[in-house]
Amino acid sequence: MLPEIRASMARSAKTTPKPRSAGGRPAKIGDDRVANDLAAIVLAAGKGTRMRSARAKVLHELLGRPLGLYPIELARALGADPVVAVLGHQREAVEAALLARFGAGAVTVVEQTDQRGTGHAVRLAMPALADFRGKLVLVLYGDVPLLRRETLAELVGTSRRYGCLSIVTTTPPDPTGYGRIVRDQRGHVMGVVEQKDASPEERAITEVNAGIYCGPVDFFRAATAALSARNAQGEYYLTDIVARAAADAKIGVTAIDADFRDVAGINDRLQLAEAEAAMRARINRALQAHVTFRDPASAVVEPDVEIGVDVELGRNVALRGRTRIGHGARIGDGVILTDVEVGAGAEIRPYTVATEASIGAGARVGPFAHLRPGSRLGPDAHVGNFVETKQTTLGRGSKANHLSYLGDSTIGDRVNIGAGTITCNYNGYEKFRTVIEDGVAIGSDTQLVAPVRVGKGAVVGAGTTVTRDVAPGALALSRAPQIEKPGYARKVAKKYANKK
Ligand code: UD1
Ligand code: CA
Repeated sequence: MLPEIRASMARSAKTTPKPRSAGGRPAKIGDDRVANDLAAIVLAAGKGTRMRSARAKVLHELLGRPLGLYPIELARALGADPVVAVLGHQREAVEAALLARFGAGAVTVVEQTDQRGTGHAVRLAMPALADFRGKLVLVLYGDVPLLRRETLAELVGTSRRYGCLSIVTTTPPDPTGYGRIVRDQRGHVMGVVEQKDASPEERAITEVNAGIYCGPVDFFRAATAALSARNAQGEYYLTDIVARAAADAKIGVTAIDADFRDVAGINDRLQLAEAEAAMRARINRALQAHVTFRDPASAVVEPDVEIGVDVELGRNVALRGRTRIGHGARIGDGVILTDVEVGAGAEIRPYTVATEASIGAGARVGPFAHLRPGSRLGPDAHVGNFVETKQTTLGRGSKANHLSYLGDSTIGDRVNIGAGTITCNYNGYEKFRTVIEDGVAIGSDTQLVAPVRVGKGAVVGAGTTVTRDVAPGALALSRAPQIEKPGYARKVAKKYANKK
């Protein structure tokens, strides 16, 4: 969904969200959907020469997601089924991105080995819709990620009502490069003329083709089959079908006007950056209905993120992937959360970085904490500055407030981890687990050499290297005995004074 902001969310789910590669969530079925009468074709075979990149254009990320996935997401959100993607450049990589996002079989891939034009691409997609007769097809270009759902819904609704070809038109500040919309004296659309084929008068037209179409699938089949490449670029232009529809009284053309900023194609990195800023602003503005942003201009919230009511976001916050923030949580300046679940009322202090982690309701994390994948903090847990956790569960009300590494550990409820505690989980070959049961007190500067278990309610003295299991309720201590040499300091000082 684009960007479908879901205002409400679970209070404090207890599970770590799955890494985003899992994808595969079915699109939400919106109100625009009626009984399945809609298919979609998304054109994404081009290289995107102007990106000057080794990567295909559609794989360049916009707010954490390959930009080519946005139109597909949108088509699915409108209920289009099947969705056919025409791929060419880096087909395998693009297909992998589709699979990661939508799961197997959700999108039908058609390969266009030679890019002979947008009309050629649609023609190649038609056999994939062979069983889909008497219905509508939506055609989108893969490089238009800012397209709004409402625009598409209007486009599809128009074709559904009138059985016509519907197209989106727009008036950019500079129409250079776009196909111009030619209208007759009564204002009816007659056709589209590409920049390179346009006469000086046609080039003066400011209304252009946005490259978004909907119409009867049978019309698309017939019209793309009849295309010729007799034009300035020697390509099969999809845009030629507009004149054909205009000339056919049974079809006709309806143009829907859109704000240029919402339908601008991405052709270079400058436009990519502008589009990302626009998408970011759009998401943040929508969220401000129920979320307080200290600085909406600097906050990055990716489209799949969900945020509860009364959440406060600081400056330069980045919420990525499938991060979910519970009601009333406070996220401090510079916090970066990727696929993190934050419980209600939790406080994430500045410059905390967390990935694939869950943070319980009322927990307090940071400043400068680092929660790595598999970290699960229970309700009211505290993790303070310069603490790193990985594959570690910290139970309810447990605390690790200063300077620690907790890796591959299971830590119970109400445990206190002293400053400078390190779990020694790796022997250079294998990782081992540390288990610390409920109510344990670990003194400062302790090393726990895994595998090791500290029993319920045990105490570990400061500076101890724990190499064997500690029985419940016991004290474990390993310390070199302290020695004392009276007057030593003065003796040394004297020695060095004489040397001067
Ligand atoms: C196209 C339109 C133009 C419109 C503009 C809007 C045509 C002929 N022209 O021009 O009227 O104003 O978009 O942005 O359609 N693609 C393929 N296979 C191909 C050619 C293109 O899959 O053989 C894909 C590209 O990857 C891209 C999309 O189709 O995603 C549009 O192609 P592009 O070459 O960018 O068309 P424009 O020249 O921008
Ligand atoms: Ca383009």
